[in-house]
This record gives sequence, structure tokens and C-alpha cells, in this order.
Amino acid sequence: MPKIKLVKAKIKHSKKVFLWRNEPNTIPWMASKQAIKFEDHNEWYKKAITDSNCMLFIICYDGEDVGQIRYNIDKTLGKKVARVSMNITEKMQGKGIGSVAFKLGLQNVKASKFAEKVQVRVHEVKEGWIRSMEEIGFKKSGFTTVHGEKQLVLIG
Ligand SMILES: CC(C)(COP(=O)(O)OP(=O)(O)OC[C@H]1O[C@@H](n2cnc3c(N)ncnc32)[C@H](O)[C@@H]1OP(=O)(O)O)[C@@H](O)C(=O)NCCC(=O)NCCS
Repeated sequence: MPKIKLVKAKIKHSKKVFLWRNEPNTIPWMASKQAIKFEDHNEWYKKAITDSNCMLFIICYDGEDVGQIRYNIDKTLGKKVARVSMNITEKMQGKGIGSVAFKLGLQNVKASKFAEKVQVRVHEVKEGWIRSMEEIGFKKSGFTTVHGEKQLVLIG
């Protein structure tokens, strides 16, 4: 059985995270909806991997780096509530990796006491993905608006 694991992101992963972020099938689901420049990404990345309010993991599948999952403490939601964002490289989507990574990440942030709750915001059109999150225990908790777009909020 293929092994999925989460590895703490390091500076050497910066380029990969950048390339995944700018894939055509991921851009529309990101907050800014635009391709970003490497220099801007790299500045952001260096801060993200050293920020005590952020946990950034590389998702590995059978020894290959295939995506990222990131948790940011959002103090507007509560002291111990993290917002999660994830993307998997396009050719590896739809293989069950995201569901497992999401579950592993949730266990990790709770076990390490980084966060007590995790919030995810997602477009309602992602019905299959929403079902998968519910299957691992996330509950719908209302709607929010992100950059003028309505998004469903789930809490795990
Ligand atoms: C959303 C995403 C993280 C899911 O990860 P994944 O490994 O592809 O998902 P899984 O294979 O575990 O499948 C879980 C469900 O997600 C849905 N899904 C899979 N690939 C998908 C895709 N490319 N687009 C939309 N939904 C997808 C499926 O409905 C699937 O459920 P089903 O197999 O019962 O139908 C991944 O497709 C991705 O990175 N997409 C682009 C970025 C993005 O949308 N990020 C926002 C996440 S909140």
C-alpha cells in the first residue's frame, strides 16, 4: 500500500511549493486567484517556515513530494484555532491522497497542541471534497465571504 506522510517543510521545498501553487488547476481555488512571482513566494515561504503561528508540511506519497498542507493560527477565530489550506499537484489529485493528508494533518496539529480546532473554507462547488472532509469529522458551520466570494466553513 502506498505510504502517505507529512514532512515538516524546509527551505529546499520552496521551489516545489511555488510550482504547485501556480498550477492552472490550483490558481482558481487560492485566495488571490493569480499566478505569483517566485521572489514574492520565496519571501513569504521563508517567513511561513519559521513562523511559530504556522505549520507547513510537505505531503509525500510513496517517497515523492506531491503537495503542501498548511495551518495558520487565526487569532480572530480563537487562540487555538488554525486555518488550513492544502493543494496537491494536479497529476496526483483524485487518488485519495488529500483525504489521508487532511486526516494526518488534523491529528498532528492536535497532538502537538498547535491547535485545538481547525477551520477550512471551501467553495460549495467542491461537493466531493466537502463530503470527504465530513467523513473525517469536519462539520459545516456556516458561510463566509473571501475576496467577495461566498465560501462554506467547516470545523474539525
Ligand atoms: C481539493 C484537493 C486538495 C483534494 O485532494 P485529492 O487528493 O485530489 O482528493 P482525494 O483523492 O482524497 O479525493 C477526495 C474527494 O475530493 C474530490 N476531488 C478529487 N480531485 C478533485 C479535483 N481535482 N477537483 C475537485 N474535487 C476533487 C473528489 O470528489 C473526491 O471524492 P470521491 O473520490 O469520493 O469523489 C486537491 O484536489 C487539490 O489540491 N485541488 C486544487 C487545490 C484546491 O482546491 N485546494 C482547496 C482545498 S480546501
